[in-house]
Amino acid sequence: MEYKIAVISGDGIGPEIVGEAKRVLDRVGSVYGHTFRYEEVLMGGISIDTYGVPLTDEALETARRSDSVLLGAVGGNVGNSRWYDVAPNLRPEAGLLAIRKGLGLFANIRPAYLYDGLSQACPLKKEIIGEGFDMVIVRELTGGLYFGERRTEEINGVLQATDTLVYSETEIRRVAVKAFEIAMKRKKKVTSVDKANVLDSSRLWRKVVAEVAKDYPEVSLENMLVDNCAMQLVMNPGQFDVILTENMFGDILSDEASMITGSIGMLSSASLNEGKFGLYEPSHGSAPDIAGKDIANPIATILSAAMMLRFSFDLDKEAEEVENAVCTVLADQYRTADIMAKGMTCVGTKEMGRLICERIRRNG
Ligand code: IPM
Ligand code: MG
Repeated sequence: MEYKIAVISGDGIGPEIVGEAKRVLDRVGSVYGHTFRYEEVLMGGISIDTYGVPLTDEALETARRSDSVLLGAVGGNVGNSRWYDVAPNLRPEAGLLAIRKGLGLFANIRPAYLYDGLSQACPLKKEIIGEGFDMVIVRELTGGLYFGERRTEEINGVLQATDTLVYSETEIRRVAVKAFEIAMKRKKKVTSVDKANVLDSSRLWRKVVAEVAKDYPEVSLENMLVDNCAMQLVMNPGQFDVILTENMFGDILSDEASMITGSIGMLSSASLNEGKFGLYEPSHGSAPDIAGKDIANPIATILSAAMMLRFSFDLDKEAEEVENAVCTVLADQYRTADIMAKGMTCVGTKEMGRLICERIRRNG
């Protein structure tokens, strides 16, 4: 089969890590007989430098016409005045919000699990880690505070700013369905996170999620308040399977969940629409301070490419092969600088990509 992938290398370490993910996809292609065609799309700081805006209509259109999108990272140091001394809707991150909305990518899937062999990087105590943890955060991505009406105004000489948190039942239902579908393939537990003791949007969230749950009798549903969830993540992370939550809560909780894995350089993510289309990107940022030094960890982007194979192309076997290759490289004690530990072999971005490719062979 042939697949058309829009590639957004972006800023900072983006081009380096995307380069290795493409190398891995090409290796999968040659081993399994698929062709991946790439079309480079500019977004973020590089698009601002080239076109004056973080995402052009043409770039969005190219992404829309592809079978899926692979993204590195966008943005620079927030102190970088070239990209940040402008209106918020012209900053690099605005490109990311525009592509999410423009492509209808309402479900953001962020897995967080503790790798065997990387548990020394986990900041939690051994007795809390226990048998480890393996959760997926399903974050609503195109609604809530991020996209509600906002304004700053002066009232009687006093500045006042307003952001609006809006959710329709349609928006809640479609992301809840994704979460339950994912739970069906896992440990069949959904924890829906909200602030229903205060917010109307959360009360509606809870009501709609309960309705969706009726269609999935095998999945157990638990409701949890967001402040409690923040606490539970560091007290007993093993209790979670699928966490379902709205945009802003998901932004915050997914950073917390990635931190307790101790290795944000390892975590992939997928942003999906109603169908098979998705945008795949590492959970980490553009790390401008280490850009161009061949030291960034490409594994999160490579694992995002594996998610693309699974979710957008239904190539489960190939996805598994990539994930196994990553596990084998780690078992063979290779590490990039961010996850380096005593006695291991430290390798750069390119070498890590090459070692993973080398381990992708057709196994049955
Ligand atoms: C994320 C990021 C973005 C978000 C920023 C860069 C706009 O933090 O993907 O989690 O808040 O969604
Ligand atoms: Mg975030």
